[in-house]
Amino acid sequence: MNLKDKIVLVTGGSQGIGLDTAIKLKSKGAIVLINARDKSRLDAAGQEQGLVTLQGDVSKETDVKQIYAFVMEKYGRLDVLINNAGYGYFDLLEDIDVEKFNQVFATNVTGAMMMAREAAKIFKKQSCGNIVNISSTSGLKGGAGSTAYSGTKFALKAMTECWRAELRKYNVRIILINPSEVQTHFTANSGREPYSFNPTKLQGGDIAHAICSALEMEDRGFITELTVFATNPK
Ligand SMILES: NC(=O)c1ccc[n+]([C@@H]2O[C@H](COP(=O)([O-])OP(=O)(O)OC[C@H]3O[C@@H](n4cnc5c(N)ncnc54)[C@H](OP(=O)(O)O)[C@@H]3O)[C@@H](O)[C@H]2O)c1
Repeated sequence: MNLKDKIVLVTGGSQGIGLDTAIKLKSKGAIVLINARDKSRLDAAGQEQGLVTLQGDVSKETDVKQIYAFVMEKYGRLDVLINNAGYGYFDLLEDIDVEKFNQVFATNVTGAMMMAREAAKIFKKQSCGNIVNISSTSGLKGGAGSTAYSGTKFALKAMTECWRAELRKYNVRIILINPSEVQTHFTANSGREPYSFNPTKLQGGDIAHAICSALEMEDRGFITELTVFATNPK
C-alpha cells in the first residue's frame, strides 16, 4: 500500500518503538494518530512531531471505544492499526504477583484484542485494512523469569493467527513483528535497569523500518511475520 494520506493509529505511540514508527509513517505522508496513557508525554511528542494525540489506556474498554469514536468522527475511516502498547513484567515463577501478572495481560493481550476488535468492525465495512501486532522474540521462545511477558506475547501470536483466519477474506492483512532487544524505555518501564546506549544494538527506528516495509508491500500480498535481531550485538 502507498502510505500517503492513510489514517494510521499507533497505540503506545508517545515514545520508543511506537513513536519512531509514527515519525516514519508521517514522513511517508500518512496521517498518524498516537495513543498512550500519560497525557503530558503524549502531547509533548504530538506537538514536537506533528502527530494527532489520543490519550487513553488500551486495557480499559471505555477508553478504547472513545479512541475509535474520535477516529471515525474525525476521519470516517481507518487504514492501519499498529497494536504496539505494551510492557514487561519479569519474575521467577515462584515469585509471580498475580495482580502484576493480570495487569500485564490486561494491556498486552486484552488491550490488543479490544483495539483489534474495534478495528475489525471498521475494516469489514471498508473491505480493507491492516493490523500490525508488535510482539517480541519472547513470543517465540520462553525463558527464565519471562512467564508473564512471554505468556502475553505467545498469546498475541495466537490471536494474530485467529484474526487472520477471520479477516483475510475481507482483504485485511494481519502482520506480526517480533523485535529482539530494542533500546527504548521498555527496560525501565518493566522494572529493570534503564539501558545504556550501545550502537551495535537495535533502535526503535529499525523496527519502524521493518513495519513500514511490510505495510508498503502491494495490497495483493502480505508478510505474515517479521523477526528482527541486531546483526552482531556487543
Ligand atoms: N524494547 C524492547 O526490547 C522490545 C522488544 C520486543 C518487543 N517490544 C514491544 O514493543 C512494544 C513497545 O515497547 P517499547 O520498547 O517502545 O517500550 P516503551 O518505550 O516503554 O514504550 C511503551 C509505550 O506504550 C505505552 N503504553 C503502555 N501501556 C499502555 C496502555 N495500557 N495503554 C496505552 N499505552 C500504553 C507507553 O506510554 P504510557 O506509559 O504513557 O501509557 C509508551 O508510549 C511493546 O509491546 C513491547 O512489548 C519491545
